[in-house]
Amino acid sequence: MFIRQLLGILAAASLGVQAFSWPNDPYGQTELTRAPKGCWKPDSESKQFTLAVMPDTQYLYDENRIHPVPMEAAFEYVMSCNETRENIVFMAHLGDIAQNGLAEEYAVASKAFDLLDETGVAYSTLAGNHDIDSSTDDTRGSTPFLDAFSSKRFAHSKTYQGSNKGGYNSYHIFRAGGREWLLMALDWRLSNSSFDWANEVLSNHSSLPTIFTTHELVSPDTGKTEFSEYGEKVWDKLIKNHDQIFLTLNGHFWPAGRTHRTNSAGHRVDSHITNYQNRYYGGAGMIRLYRFDLEKNTIDVSTFSPWIHKLMKQGKANKLAKQEANLTSDANRFTMSVDFEKRFSKSKSTKSKRWDVKEVIPGTLAYWRFDGHKDQTRVSSKQTIKDLSGHGNVLVFHGANETSAHTMHWSSAHHPQQPGHGSLNFTGQKQPLRGSYFQTVDHAPINYATFEHGYTFEAFYYLPSSWNSDQNAWSSILSRWGTAGQANKTGAGVDSDEPIVSLSLSDDRELQWRVYPLHKNVGSTNWGHESPFDDWWHVAVVNNGTLTKMYVDGCEVVRNPQQWVPGLTTLNQPWMLGGYSYNGSIDQIFYGSIGDVRIVDRPLSIDEFLINSSAENKSPP
Ligand SMILES: *[C@@H]1O[C@H](CO)[C@@H](O)[C@H](O)[C@H]1NC(C)=O
Ligand SMILES: *[C@@H]1O[C@H](CO)[C@@H](O)[C@H](O)[C@H]1NC(C)=O
Ligand SMILES: *[C@@H]1O[C@H](CO)[C@@H](O)[C@H](O)[C@H]1NC(C)=O
Ligand SMILES: *[C@@H]1O[C@H](CO)[C@@H](O)[C@H](O)[C@H]1NC(C)=O
Ligand SMILES: *[C@@H]1O[C@H](CO)[C@@H](O)[C@H](O)[C@H]1NC(C)=O
Ligand SMILES: *[C@@H]1O[C@H](CO)[C@@H](O)[C@H](O)[C@H]1NC(C)=O
Ligand SMILES: *[C@@H]1O[C@H](CO)[C@@H](O)[C@H](O)[C@H]1NC(C)=O
Ligand SMILES: *[C@@H]1O[C@H](CO)[C@@H](O)[C@H](O)[C@H]1NC(C)=O
Ligand SMILES: *[C@@H]1O[C@H](CO)[C@@H](O)[C@H](O)[C@H]1NC(C)=O
Ligand SMILES: *[C@@H]1O[C@H](CO)[C@@H](O)[C@H](O)[C@H]1NC(C)=O
Repeated sequence: MFIRQLLGILAAASLGVQAFSWPNDPYGQTELTRAPKGCWKPDSESKQFTLAVMPDTQYLYDENRIHPVPMEAAFEYVMSCNETRENIVFMAHLGDIAQNGLAEEYAVASKAFDLLDETGVAYSTLAGNHDIDSSTDDTRGSTPFLDAFSSKRFAHSKTYQGSNKGGYNSYHIFRAGGREWLLMALDWRLSNSSFDWANEVLSNHSSLPTIFTTHELVSPDTGKTEFSEYGEKVWDKLIKNHDQIFLTLNGHFWPAGRTHRTNSAGHRVDSHITNYQNRYYGGAGMIRLYRFDLEKNTIDVSTFSPWIHKLMKQGKANKLAKQEANLTSDANRFTMSVDFEKRFSKSKSTKSKRWDVKEVIPGTLAYWRFDGHKDQTRVSSKQTIKDLSGHGNVLVFHGANETSAHTMHWSSAHHPQQPGHGSLNFTGQKQPLRGSYFQTVDHAPINYATFEHGYTFEAFYYLPSSWNSDQNAWSSILSRWGTAGQANKTGAGVDSDEPIVSLSLSDDRELQWRVYPLHKNVGSTNWGHESPFDDWWHVAVVNNGTLTKMYVDGCEVVRNPQQWVPGLTTLNQPWMLGGYSYNGSIDQIFYGSIGDVRIVDRPLSIDEFLINSSAENKSPP
């Protein structure tokens, strides 16, 4: 742990570390059965498969105490190509590969991992507190650990999907049991931007059952297994809101332990500590196997040292080694039940089911409709609105000083060419602020979208003649949380307190598409004309990666700028429907009705707009 690491670094610095020669193993076990190159081919369709996990190997690589053989023997077991019984599909190392973070230590450890690379074994690595300076987060820059285990090493991995910018966090997708699984491998300490990165990865893959690995998460320090202080932060910021995470694995602490919690979706998440560094021979290259059986709905867990098994077969194991052959306590040898079908088809139906609606055309990122409710009934404060695109951009209700005069209602009113025959009737006002609005859930994929290749935003809206400029001006149909100032936009005409994206109505009910494009220090505005009262309108804003044009009922407006405006800035925060923020707080709420809203990640032509989506609606020739 921390103190030992500092001592190690001090010792290394003051004594001057020698180049190590290896291996001087007391057992002389240096002969490996090297598997033929590329021979590792697990059966990805079998309903029985195994995930191997290797925790803290740090005492095998500790300054001038270097003993790679137990790790190599464990790897030999994992990659054994003639052994199909286990069907090992992936191996995850849980960090603290080495004790002092020294290049000399990784020089040897790295050679053991080369064996996996040669054979083609899919595996992940991550940094524990001993692999790096434990007082730093993952913005620490280059280290000997990262030199050895960077994206370069994984360039040929079939499962590796990418790392965050600093390179300390990565994720893998592997196929097993006839479907894909995701494994996150996260650093010792995540910076804010890495939490954003990891949330984005998880949101982008919400339908893949996910195993979450990091060095520190749950701890036995209070006498029972509980989330550590840092673990709580990771639970709150990452785990609890991504229903696909069903299992977390960490090392760092000992003894081994297990616990479980309920996530925001009401599902169980199992969390295990697995670490044997304190035991004989630094844990003797102990591994843990998670044997999944998708037919029996079980995961059978066992913990053992392949190296000691090998020694025993050769009659070379000493008294202490024999005690480490298999660990059979309840924390190390157990069976979990997971109803895979139920657990993962359910998360699919709430989060990523694609409803079969023809308006979900290629590139649709989000599509919300408000039909199917009894006319003029109040919208409940627990209401959520599903995203018909299937991407999980669920809208949730937010009240801001809702009073009986300012409740939101369902309405069956709609634009004659609107596909959904319903709308939301908003009754917001500015002073004092009253009303309610909807907002996308935290980590909805659309929160991160940057629209580099263009976009089309469409909405139907209606303003009653009771609309009043004093109370209702500058309200939004749709807007994105985050201010121009927070996005560091500073150019001429920038209002640093306004939202980075908003589709609003001015004091003269003119539509206003006010946005801050990507990588540019300017804002850009498309203006519509005064919206006539007591009528339904369709608005579309279309960007082709270069220019943005606004259309009302399919007719191009005059006040479109000739300005190069690529993409839309994001601060990875939610979108609001009917809410407008100023200086980071809710400032105004819509008055009027909003019908279908669709967001597509490409420029649409007019005949692809929602107003033209129904054949009957088309004008006769
Ligand atoms: C696999 O089996 C073949 C013959 O059955 C043998 O020649 C080869 O050495 C074995 N490979 C390993 C890694 O055990
Ligand atoms: C990280 O985000 C939290 C809020 O989530 C904030 O309190 C903290 O100041 C941020 N840290 C840094 C270094 O920006
Ligand atoms: C998430 O998906 C979007 C859209 O495909 C992509 O642009 C973005 O890079 C992805 N994010 C991460 C962190 O992989
Ligand atoms: C360890 O467990 C394996 C699998 O259950 C068994 O085959 C082996 O005999 C055990 N070894 C010892 C020393 O208990
Ligand atoms: C609620 O209204 C009061 C004044 O009536 C105002 O001070 C407060 O900011 C409002 N709350 C919100 C969330 O806007
Ligand atoms: C804005 O600038 C500050 C200070 O340079 C920086 O910390 C922050 O990450 C920047 N934010 C964005 C979104 O670029
Ligand atoms: C976008 O549209 C404008 C005007 O029609 C055109 O000049 C420009 O080349 C287009 N850009 C792209 C990337 O298609
Ligand atoms: C903007 O909000 C910050 C706090 O979030 C506050 O200190 C500042 O005074 C506000 N600015 C204005 C112009 O209201
Ligand atoms: C609510 O909907 C009804 C029916 O369409 C309409 O008469 C009324 O003006 C709407 N109110 C608002 C505030 O939009
Ligand atoms: C699309 O709808 C607009 C507005 O109703 C109409 O003017 C136009 O002719 C339609 N275009 C097609 C291709 O149907």
